Amino acid sequence: MVRDAHNRPLRDLRISLTDRCNMRCRYCMPREHFDGHDFLAKKEILSYEELSNVVESLMPLGLSKVRLTGGEPLLRKDICSFIKMLPKELDIAMTTNGILLERFAQDLADSGLNRVTVSLDAVDVETFQAMGDTDETPETVLRGIETARKAGLNVKVNTVIRAGYNEHSVKMVADRFVGSDVIVRYIEFMDVGETNSWNDDEVITGDMMRNMLENLSPISANHVGEVANRYLRGSQEIGFIESVSKPFCGDCNRARISADGSLYTCLFASKGNDLKSLIRMNASQEQIAEAVRSIWTIRDDAYSQNRGLVDKEKVEMSFIGG
Ligand code: GTP
Ligand code: 5AD
Ligand code: SF4
Ligand code: SF4
Repeated sequence: MVRDAHNRPLRDLRISLTDRCNMRCRYCMPREHFDGHDFLAKKEILSYEELSNVVESLMPLGLSKVRLTGGEPLLRKDICSFIKMLPKELDIAMTTNGILLERFAQDLADSGLNRVTVSLDAVDVETFQAMGDTDETPETVLRGIETARKAGLNVKVNTVIRAGYNEHSVKMVADRFVGSDVIVRYIEFMDVGETNSWNDDEVITGDMMRNMLENLSPISANHVGEVANRYLRGSQEIGFIESVSKPFCGDCNRARISADGSLYTCLFASKGNDLKSLIRMNASQEQIAEAVRSIWTIRDDAYSQNRGLVDKEKVEMSFIGG
């Protein structure tokens, strides 16, 4: 197993399958920055064979989970064929905006996907469309969630809360899923990337959100390094991802690979580590593992804990995935 400079293992690889998205969430891909953006060309993007080779290479380092992200991963062609290529002993999850989920859920489950996390910032049309800068409706996402559940996938919902936009979603989204086994998790608006005009005043902290919900009682984490602080609201599980007010870098075991094959050791990194050149030189799995081991061994990232102290240009979240 590999450990970084703070003794953190590498457990979770988040794979960005594309830097494109069919939404333009104001806090992630604001239209004025991303319409007309130079997205990656096909030849720059790692193929499924190249990606599954990376995943297999990292198994001996202690990898136990893979999360498929984007942009929007369901925009990448034939994603099910990739899922089928992944080692079955891994926990295989996906983060999606849910627009295409109704169409794909059954095939995803049949291909070996275990879980899906669906972004849903509002259940009322007006707020959903304002936050996502989209003509789509929450009903489409809700139908996707229902189809995913019926297909046997475990479903979580991620709701970003941003002051002035959707504070009311804290209660409305939780209420929408009462009585179902969908776990709702609220995310504090983060200063990730350089284009979302993040501002301290727009952060609704986990404490503030909890004050908007009644009958919460804390429960313990499922595993070391879990990003959400978990609560029960009656029988409903709710989580709060409080990376601004309660950073969780201490146990961070996540690595990210961009669609063009760079390995990022932090969501807030400015640069990745090129793996694509190595892969395209036909490196063996041992050589790929060795390269990642040497990157991981010196990793000392802890951006959220040191917020305000680092002032470097940050990569966009739509480029390296959530
Ligand atoms: P589970 O295995 O279901 O617990 O998934 P997860 O929580 O690892 O994944 P998910 O992608 O659902 O994470 C939820 C959100 O938490 C992400 O979309 C990010 O907004 C945030 N997040 C995840 N990992 C990190 C991280 O390493 N640092 C920070 N600051 N935020 C993170
Ligand atoms: N702050 C918090 N969460 C964000 N996400 C994207 N950008 C931000 C941000 N600036 C969330 C998405 C999705 C997940 C991938 O990350 O809404 O749920
Ligand atoms: Fe797309 Fe997700 Fe970013 Fe929204 S948050 S623009 S759905 S990648
Ligand atoms: Fe991990 Fe970086 Fe997020 Fe901290 S800020 S939890 S080190 S990805």
